[in-house]
Amino acid sequence: MCGIIGVTGRSDAVECILGGLKRLEYRGYDSAGVVTADANDLDVVKRAGKLENLVRALDDNPLASQVGIGHTRWATHGEPNDRNAHPHTDPSGRVAVVHNGILENYQELKASLGDVRFASDTDSEVAAHLAARELERMDEPDLLLAVRRVVAQLRGAYSICFVAVDDPDTIVVAKHEAPLIVAHADGVGYCASDVAALIDHTRDVAALLDGQIARITPDGVDVMDVDGTPVEPHRFHVDWDLDAAEKQGYDHFMLKEIHEQPQAVADTLLDRLNAPPDGGPARLHLDEMRIDEHELARIDKVFILACGTSLHAGMIGKLAIEHWAGIPVDVEVASEFRYRDPIVDPHTLVIAISQSGETIDTIAAASHGRDQRAPVIALCNVVGSTLAREADGVLYTHAGPEIAVASTKAFTTQIVGCLLIGLYLAQVRGRMYASETEDILTRLQQIPAAIEQTLLLDGEVRELAERYQDTNYTMFIGRHAGLPIAMEGALKLKEISYLHAEAFPAGEMKHGPIALIEPGSLVVALAPAGHVFGKMVSNIQEVRARGASVLAIGTDGSTADLKEHAHHVLTLPEPPNELAGSVLSVIPLQLFSYHIATLRGEDVDQPRNLAKTVTVE
Ligand code: M6R
Repeated sequence: MCGIIGVTGRSDAVECILGGLKRLEYRGYDSAGVVTADANDLDVVKRAGKLENLVRALDDNPLASQVGIGHTRWATHGEPNDRNAHPHTDPSGRVAVVHNGILENYQELKASLGDVRFASDTDSEVAAHLAARELERMDEPDLLLAVRRVVAQLRGAYSICFVAVDDPDTIVVAKHEAPLIVAHADGVGYCASDVAALIDHTRDVAALLDGQIARITPDGVDVMDVDGTPVEPHRFHVDWDLDAAEKQGYDHFMLKEIHEQPQAVADTLLDRLNAPPDGGPARLHLDEMRIDEHELARIDKVFILACGTSLHAGMIGKLAIEHWAGIPVDVEVASEFRYRDPIVDPHTLVIAISQSGETIDTIAAASHGRDQRAPVIALCNVVGSTLAREADGVLYTHAGPEIAVASTKAFTTQIVGCLLIGLYLAQVRGRMYASETEDILTRLQQIPAAIEQTLLLDGEVRELAERYQDTNYTMFIGRHAGLPIAMEGALKLKEISYLHAEAFPAGEMKHGPIALIEPGSLVVALAPAGHVFGKMVSNIQEVRARGASVLAIGTDGSTADLKEHAHHVLTLPEPPNELAGSVLSVIPLQLFSYHIATLRGEDVDQPRNLAKTVTVE
């Protein structure tokens, strides 16, 4: 995720900014930059790659000022390169901006500026142009007023910071659905996306709330709403050490990432409908779709290729595509696909799913398909990664960097991505009215709140983990969308707790696996509401009759049967549809493995023998 630090009122502002950016490195980034301001001009230095590249550039071109803002970028719109790195300025160099988040209406805003040249491919740059236009219109230029007017036009998620030559001591910031901290200490004003960047300077900080704007000067910080009415941010004292600050108070990155899922899913769903200029119905779009819609309309078969957790998301993708778009789909382990002779032709679509976009097996499998002239869509979390670059079309899961080896937020956003691809293919094949697509997308917007509610199960899950932490073998069972979630639950438990866990289609139990059940076995049954619920209840009865302890995952309103047969029931909120429910069902399983692993004293974030990105076969 991008990082921000702004400083006003220190003679060593640039060093202070670089120190802050260093503290934010753990968040992951692909470029970094800094802007300083004085009454004559703004100076910007930015570089793709690691912070060292920026430091070297600043050694060659030192900046000295009491005011500046620094940024580390995690690309969402546009390749990770020098041009797209933040800060961005308007063409006259009057205003500079750094931004975390996604501006949903940036194309509309760009169009409102008329024939203006943009220096980058980002959504963020438009904010600098808009602020400069507001300043130009004022007899007495006022950066705060200009930003208030700009913010009133922005849609999407942002923590955004501006400096301008008109008001060179001042940094003006605004927040909506992306964190932003402000502080004032010893005659210096600060802002940052994360307390980790400020912890060396002050521990008394204030988190802006959605809709708040702040003017930061060496004299203090004024917080207001978009109309300029003074408002109170959330003030707090940081007593965490630096390690905890990087994890924002969570004990591990995995837990932090589990809790980031509402935001990650919201970001993945953001900005997906385009209203065409001719006023026709809004159409779903993917980020970088370079495949002609007519070509996609002729697809008669899909291969979804991935590894590990991404493969499990792909299994939900199969259900979505077959259900909505009516195309047959095979889901295959990437490392197997590349060594066989799959029947692929130009009417076959390959969908390659990878969080990192650098998994060698998935990249090679996608090229195996492309060699046989199949178009390739990448579902990826890392902009500009190898898979994304080589694919013909890309849908990014805007989950932000995932640091823990055990994938959590990447998985739930991949499921959402798969649903979007299913809807997109249905759209290009004319299988759905535009209003139906819009209706489903609107209902999917309920998922982030439902995840928040599901996360409240944490206390109950921890108690279950305490009880079952020494269970040597856990069986996960599920049907339909519950099966990939059962597989993901088993993988999570294996990966971080090193306990044996396996998943089976519940209907296969009687064909063999039920022989493993004996008194004391733990069976986790995925039994959310839906068309296979009744079958799952029967499967639960079968394993219980053979002595298993059963933990069932069910849905609010349909758990009466579960409570009768299972020993424990975790109740999920009702999802917007059956497939989207899988995003909720996996959350208690992520928490279960997390708690078991921590109770057993395992290294949750860096489990043995595993790497975050598998770039070798
Ligand atoms: O980056 P990718 O999505 O291509 O990675 C694929 C797998 O290596 C990955 O999902 C792995 O299974 C995770 N450690 C699961 O938690």
